[in-house]
Amino acid sequence: MMITTEWNAALYDDKHSFVFKYGEDLVDLLAPKAGERILDIGCGTGYLTNVIASSGATVIGIDNSLEMITKAKVAYPQQEFKVQPGEEFHFDEHFDAIFSNAALHWILEKEKVIDCMYRNLKRTGRIVLEMGGKHNVEKIVTALQDSLKKRGYTTNAAIQLWYFPSESEYTALLEKRGFTVTYASHFSRDTKLADTRNGIKDWVKMFGSAFLKGIDEAVVNDILTEVQNALHPLLFRDNDWYADYKRLRIIAIK
Ligand code: BEZ
Repeated sequence: MMITTEWNAALYDDKHSFVFKYGEDLVDLLAPKAGERILDIGCGTGYLTNVIASSGATVIGIDNSLEMITKAKVAYPQQEFKVQPGEEFHFDEHFDAIFSNAALHWILEKEKVIDCMYRNLKRTGRIVLEMGGKHNVEKIVTALQDSLKKRGYTTNAAIQLWYFPSESEYTALLEKRGFTVTYASHFSRDTKLADTRNGIKDWVKMFGSAFLKGIDEAVVNDILTEVQNALHPLLFRDNDWYADYKRLRIIAIK
């Protein structure tokens, strides 16, 4: 079953800009050069696509969400953006590099993404990726699943929304397809959420709404309150809410 998440591009930019702000040092790892042709998979509202383009590289941003791409085109009209899924894209002219920040964990068909990246790269081209790694947002998801199960929503609790691989699992998949992995790192990055009162509720509404599908609004509100309260001892400190992010960063060469 394909589970979809309705993206609210305005809320994404206003309250979840940490997603792409943290990605700026991933652009340093990419080290784009003038004249290179680069693909940004899961570009969202285009912020990092534009940062990459400031190097003089030619960058194309793709995203599965029409709402995100529409906003990206308005914000950066000089850039090329296309609605395309990360597991099924094709460009006649291949790329020097493929970049992706905080997007690939949304695609469960990971072998298809890896195959697409491989086929669309030039020989010796590179991929530079960051995604949620093993144990990512585990505290938030566990609290949410506990609250759902307690109320009998076992199907909602069991949905598989994201793919958070370990370093060894993902590098093995890349090597199987023919990539040479030159850098891999799995690390914790607790991430401060924008709203000091309802940080966890906002995060779940923005990114985890699929877990709450079909549940009455009043019950959803109870669940969100219960989840946030349960996480208070774990993810609230110095007057701020944090999401328990674990990142997986990869560089690999075709
Ligand atoms: C992440 O960037 O790790 C992430 C973002 C939204 C949902 C799940 C994970």
